[in-house]
Formats: sequence, structure tokens, C-alpha cells
Amino acid sequence: MSPLTDTPSWHALLAHREAMAGTTLEALWQRDPERGGALTFECAGIAVDFSKQRVDGETVKLLTALARERDVPAGISTLFAGEKVNVTEGRPALHMALRGDEHVSVDGKDVYPEIQGNRERMRVFAEAVRNGQWKGANGDAFTHVLALGIGGSSLGPRLVIEAMRGEADGPQVRFCSNVDAAEFDDAIRGLDPRTTLVVIASKTFTTQETMVNALAAREWIAGTLGEGAIARHFVAPTSNRSAAADFGLPDCNVFPFAEWVGGRYSLWSSVGLPIAIAIGTERFGRMLAGAHAADLEFRSDPLERNVPALLALFGIWNRDALGMATHAVLSYASRLESLPAYLQQLEMESNGKRVDREGRPVSFATCPVVWGGTETPGQHAFHQWLHQGTDAASCDFIVVAQPMGTRAIHHEILLSHACAQSEALMTGTDPGDPHRACPGNRVSTTLVLPKLDAYHLGALLAIYEHKVFVQSCVWGINAFDQFGVELGKTIASRILPAVQGANVPLHPATAHLLGIVRKLAGST
Ligand code: F6P
Repeated sequence: MSPLTDTPSWHALLAHREAMAGTTLEALWQRDPERGGALTFECAGIAVDFSKQRVDGETVKLLTALARERDVPAGISTLFAGEKVNVTEGRPALHMALRGDEHVSVDGKDVYPEIQGNRERMRVFAEAVRNGQWKGANGDAFTHVLALGIGGSSLGPRLVIEAMRGEADGPQVRFCSNVDAAEFDDAIRGLDPRTTLVVIASKTFTTQETMVNALAAREWIAGTLGEGAIARHFVAPTSNRSAAADFGLPDCNVFPFAEWVGGRYSLWSSVGLPIAIAIGTERFGRMLAGAHAADLEFRSDPLERNVPALLALFGIWNRDALGMATHAVLSYASRLESLPAYLQQLEMESNGKRVDREGRPVSFATCPVVWGGTETPGQHAFHQWLHQGTDAASCDFIVVAQPMGTRAIHHEILLSHACAQSEALMTGTDPGDPHRACPGNRVSTTLVLPKLDAYHLGALLAIYEHKVFVQSCVWGINAFDQFGVELGKTIASRILPAVQGANVPLHPATAHLLGIVRKLAGST
């Protein structure tokens, strides 16, 4: 495939950018007061209002033409057909199959029976933990789950369990991801080993942080209950059954998922086990159903009203034509506090790439920095930068229509702020004092969930997954590998013996830095 910047549609878009250069969002609204309706679309019950993007009908036409020239429709078919879209690792990316009901083949083998089997095993186990049939070694029902895992093996379950806090009626889940001992200590503080189930989630079952925490958990449980308790207290969602067996887990404690499920796309698999235990398998199923509904619409909607595709295309417009280097996710829902971190991995680990699928350096910007926060607290922290900083960021506002708590006034105020912020970013103000002026013309999209429930959360996450995929198609990059994370891991394993006192050769900069750390470690 030719580089993006060589395509006629890209050049047409750049010419259009010049034609739009002096046009503000306010001018676009004055020109077409109906643009709200024309630029709002729906996917799986979620309404997405793009009317505060610096685009008009012509922009949409040119962006969808670009997507067609970059073979996005064919890319979508290829993805869902189970073809090896992860070209560098020779694997499909078929996480959608985990939430669907279709027979899909990988290397000529129908994987649906295996998906169904894994789903059923997970269902039976999660319900057994919830109703006390699966007990600890001393016969106690589990009151807590210690969920170990990092990156995609943690961020999704953490986000969903927090979001569904109001409906969580199973054992409480504590997460531990970091290899910082304080995080482990905090995670087990107040827990009783007799009533704690440990879930070790790791696709590879080799990730250092997770393995070190798993050994600490094992020591903690076995210290009280003996080694014989491991088989009652530890389970592992993983693709590496033999490593789980080496850890001492019987096969029935291992909840496998396929190699073609990428880590950051794995919450739909057995990695979601803590979710199913916390909120029940019925709600977990509704999360899958919401995501599946979004999949179906993504596959069938024309690009002109295809929500994930439009999120992707307006993102590319903002990034590559309008030069915005950062993208903020603003959750107007306290329980979505982990959404920015989740999307950070999804977008930045997928599309933070500098070469195309053929390995050629790209000559345009790919994934922006994804960041964000929970609102309204963020309004009292970083929104100043959004309104008056020297860099313009694009923003996604996440709004929930139905009240999330018991007090109506809170929700009314929350909604008023969500609407006010996107309006303020768009209109700005000029009171005649440069310190108080806000330039406005800053773009945003607002995604409105009818309700913060499992179905719409599933749909929301699937929409973002597909946004990432469409962007990767247009940019011509592979969204499904993450080789950039390897170098640091290799260097850390080289440095560890030095940290532990061995005399090993170090880069002078690292030797210098370790010297500082050692000196301060010895100080009071
Ligand atoms: O280091 C990056 C990464 O490989 C992520 O892609 C993944 O989600 C995370 O580490 C955890 O990997 P695993 O599930 O194999 O422990």
C-alpha cells in the first residue's frame, strides 16, 4: 500500500484544510444551525455528537473518500474474517469473536466451539465462587478476589468493575498490577487468606511484574494455609497453560484464551473473570452483548454514519490536518475514572507506531497522546490548559444521560458542566482583557450513554477498539503488536543484578543514576 501522504484523497483533504483555515466552529454553526442533527449518530444505543468538530459536509465527504482509498471497508471484512491482520506476529485479531455468536475459522479451524466452551467454564466457575460452592481450603466462601495482572490483563477488568460499582454484588475485587511492594501490601491489607481467591491474569504468564506478585501472593496464602491450598485459592486466565502448570496450578484452575486475543483486547475473554465474579455472569454477558451490537453496526453501517469510523476519521483530521498532538478523554461519570488509562493503552499501545505495515517510516503523525480525567474535578485542575493553553487538544466528553446516584441535583449540575465545558471550548470569550480571554474554536466530540450499565459500557469499549482499527488502516500501520515495550524490559533485566549488588557492566549514565539512588537509600 502506498504511503498515506501520496494518496489523492490526502491531497484533497489538505486543500480543503486551506479552504477551511479561517472558518471557526462558531461560523460553522451560524452557517448551518442544523449541523447538530446532521453530525450526530448512534451506535448500540450510544449517541455521538460530532457537531463540535471543525468539519462540514465536505470534510466528511473527503475523509470517507480517504477511508475508502485506504481500503477501510476491506480492512473491516478482513478483521472479522479472522485473517492475519497482525502481520508482524502472523496472527488474527479476533477479540470480537469472544462476544459474538458466529462460527469463525482460524487456520481452517472453527474456533467457535472453543470460545463457547471457555465461556461456559468461566460462567460455571464465577457463579460457583459467587454462591459459595467453590470454597477456600478451610471450607470458607470467598469474600475477596485479589486480581493480579498488568496492562491489558488488568486495565479492562478494573475499569468495568469500578464502572459497575453500583451493581457489584459478588466478592470484592482488589487489584495489584505494579511491582512496587507497597501496592501489594496495600492490596492485601485487611484481607484474610482463608477467604481470598487469587486470579493471576497474564496472557504470556511470563510478565515479570505479575509473576513477582503471584509468587508474593502464593507465599502469603501458603504461609497461612499451606501449599495444598494453592489449588483452591489460585486460578489463571492465560494463553500459556504450561507456564500456569509449572506454577503449580491444576488444569481445571486454568482459564485459557487464544493467542489471537491481544492483551489490550482481552477483557472479553477469561481475563474478564474478576468482572464475572464481581457483577455476575449475567451482567458480564450483557457487556458482551453491548460490544457485539457495536460490532454489528460497525460492520454494516456506511462510513458516512459509522460511529467508530467517524471517531477515527475526525481523530485523523485533528491529528494530521489540524496538528493536535494530544487527545483528552473527559469522563462526566466518577465511576469511569479508569477510562482514560484504559484508552491510553488501547490507543497508544496499538497506534503508537512510526513505521507502516511494510516497515517503512511514516511521514505523518500517528497516535496522539491520550490522557484525561474524571469530571468535574478535572475542571479544577487541567481545564485551564484546555481553555487557555498554547496547544489545542481534541476532547471526547463522556456523558451519561440517566442519573448515576440517588440525588437528582448532583446529576443536573454534572450535566450542566458537561454541556458548559464543550460550549466554552467552542465559543471562547473575549472580555477585552487578554488574561481573561479564551480563544475558543477548540474541538470536541460528546458520547452520550443512556445509562452506565454493562451493555452500554461494552458498546463504548468496542466503539473505541474499532476507532483504533480504522485509524491503523488509514495510517497503514499494524495496531496489534507492541515491540516498543520490549527494549526497556531487556535493559531492566540487565540492570537488576547491579541493583542487587553484582558487579556487571552498565551504561555510564545508568551507573551514575544508580550511584545517586544508592547514596540516597543510605541517607536518613
Ligand atoms: O508490556 C506490554 C504488554 O505486553 C501488554 O500488551 C499486555 O497487556 C501486558 O504487557 C501484560 O501482558 P501479559 O498479559 O502477558 O502479562
